[in-house]
Amino acid sequence: MIKVVTIVGARPQFIKASAVSRVIRDLHGGSVEEFIVHTGQHYDENMSKVFFDELDIPAPFLNLGIGGGGHGAMTGRMLISIEEVLLSVKPDWVLIYGDTNSTLAGALAASKLNIPVAHVEAGLRSFNMRMPEEINRILSDRVSTLLFCPTDAAVKNLFREGLTTGVTNVGDVMYDVALYYKARAQSQSTIQKRLGLQNDFALVTCHRAENTDDPNRLRSIMIALSEIAERIPVVFPVHPRTRKLVNDYGLAMYLDRLIICDPLPFLDMIALEQESRMILTDSGGVQKEAFFYGIKKLIF
Ligand code: UD1
Repeated sequence: MIKVVTIVGARPQFIKASAVSRVIRDLHGGSVEEFIVHTGQHYDENMSKVFFDELDIPAPFLNLGIGGGGHGAMTGRMLISIEEVLLSVKPDWVLIYGDTNSTLAGALAASKLNIPVAHVEAGLRSFNMRMPEEINRILSDRVSTLLFCPTDAAVKNLFREGLTTGVTNVGDVMYDVALYYKARAQSQSTIQKRLGLQNDFALVTCHRAENTDDPNRLRSIMIALSEIAERIPVVFPVHPRTRKLVNDYGLAMYLDRLIICDPLPFLDMIALEQESRMILTDSGGVQKEAFFYGIKKLIF
């Protein structure tokens, strides 16, 4: 029996893990035992639990309860706790996803214990070292043994950095998820009705630190959105980071013209994406879904 500890913590990782954990369970259930460890990075029910329930992800073996705080403190606390888990479970592999602080903590804890790391969504680069995600990606890839890339461009990025062994283009797990849940979202979600939407609307997400942490930049985005809302209804599920900063910077009045709601469960979100006239986003995942579903998008 091969033992795998999977580290997840943030919303996009739950989505990616749903595709892979299903295969581990259904195809390899007798030969691979998976222990899902939730770092607790995303802790609100609508950022975490709803995804486990709706996407049928096995309940985490452990939730470390480490959310909030600065990047260093958060990553450091995760590192300490994940090391303890790995020492007790003694897995053959550690599986990590994407580029969050949880990804980096999992990669570091495992590699320092000489446990091989498999990284799903390896090789992506923005070439912008001011993004915390870019630092997490580069460092996680550097210590991974198996690098599962979503595209040929990602494979080339790794080759340029001298990473050539264990590198494979396996396709994009987010595409698997987008296809798998597409029809279910259309038939089950009632979100358009709940928000009182007609067919013509724009969908917005905005949560990246580069956009939210600078008051002037966030003000510009909010003004632009309220101007767009004069022409077409704008639906904005607001991430907790953004909600807090919009209030702190005194920008809440710009939300008045928008149709705002809490972060949405996955099926509601992809149902809205498929029905929207256009998507405005700074999320890597949402921009990919827009592409998969053939919706016009604007990335900021
Ligand atoms: C993280 C990832 C980002 C990913 C995003 C998906 C890093 C560096 N960034 O960003 O790559 O695209 O997740 O959403 O790992 N908060 C809550 N409730 C929650 C979660 C967060 O209130 O359930 C608050 C936190 O306390 C914090 C802020 O929102 O103040 C930001 O959360 P954090 O996990 O640091 O980063 P994200 O912006 O979510």
